[in-house]
Amino acid sequence: MTKKDRYAVFGNPIKHSKSPQIHHAFAEQTQQSLRYRAVLVKKGKFAESAKAFFAEGGKGLNVTVPFKAQAYEFAQVLSDRARRAGAVNTLGIDKDGRIFGDNTDGIGLVRDMVVNLGWRIGDTKVLIAGAGGAARGVLEPILKERPRSVTIVNRTASKAKQLAKDFADLGNVKGGAYKLIGDRQFDLVINATSAGLEGGMPELPASLLNEKSCCYDMVYGDEPTVFSRWAAQNAAWAVSDGLGMLVEQAAESFYLWRKVRPETQPVIRALREG
Ligand code: ATR
Repeated sequence: MTKKDRYAVFGNPIKHSKSPQIHHAFAEQTQQSLRYRAVLVKKGKFAESAKAFFAEGGKGLNVTVPFKAQAYEFAQVLSDRARRAGAVNTLGIDKDGRIFGDNTDGIGLVRDMVVNLGWRIGDTKVLIAGAGGAARGVLEPILKERPRSVTIVNRTASKAKQLAKDFADLGNVKGGAYKLIGDRQFDLVINATSAGLEGGMPELPASLLNEKSCCYDMVYGDEPTVFSRWAAQNAAWAVSDGLGMLVEQAAESFYLWRKVRPETQPVIRALREG
């Protein structure tokens, strides 16, 4: 019997990760033989653990909070989208035996919005709340869809301004404090803050929504997130949490490793049914 190829996700915390379940579902569906586990890595031990994983024959890693910047440093070769994002969520081995780093978060978000949910990004006015790693990771794929404008707002205004500057070559992007919203309305509102993790919510005025607005929370939970509830209460046209993005980023990683594209819809459905 041949040994199964080994994959893992490294994070801290990691206990509640759905990635093993998702990748095993993909493997079963595409008849790929592999093992995938969630590994709790001590803070400060990322590089050492990743090196050991590959040295022992591991084929690929997903990387989650708080190690995406360290994975970026660890990779020997980077994709353009990982370089732009300044973060890596997928590590693998290229045909020359080097460790490559990629970032599939942004494409995962865009696919979930455009393909699964049927939302349009092209020619719309987009608002992104938050200017940390999560926002940076998704800006390039969003701008590639050619929205009319992207406005980034953040508690620390300077970070939003810097982020807008870093991506200004790709489209019409502005950044600043929440007051930049003023009385403007947006077609697409993306929550890229971590406020929801503590049950909080960015300071968004309900006036920014109209009956056509779509709201996406990059975070997901077993219960509707605070941002999702706010959007629904304020009569947004459509609301989604980040479960679809999670499955789509996993599918893109799976494709990078196995060169087979799994179907995501049945996996999203199964996770929703829990
Ligand atoms: P991530 O990689 O998830 O983006 P991060 O880099 O720590 O994590 O960024 C977290 C983001 O959530 C930041 O934009 C942060 O705002 P600041 O830059 O001003 O800190 C935002 N954030 C966290 N808690 C928040 C809250 N209660 N209200 C509004 N924004 C919040």
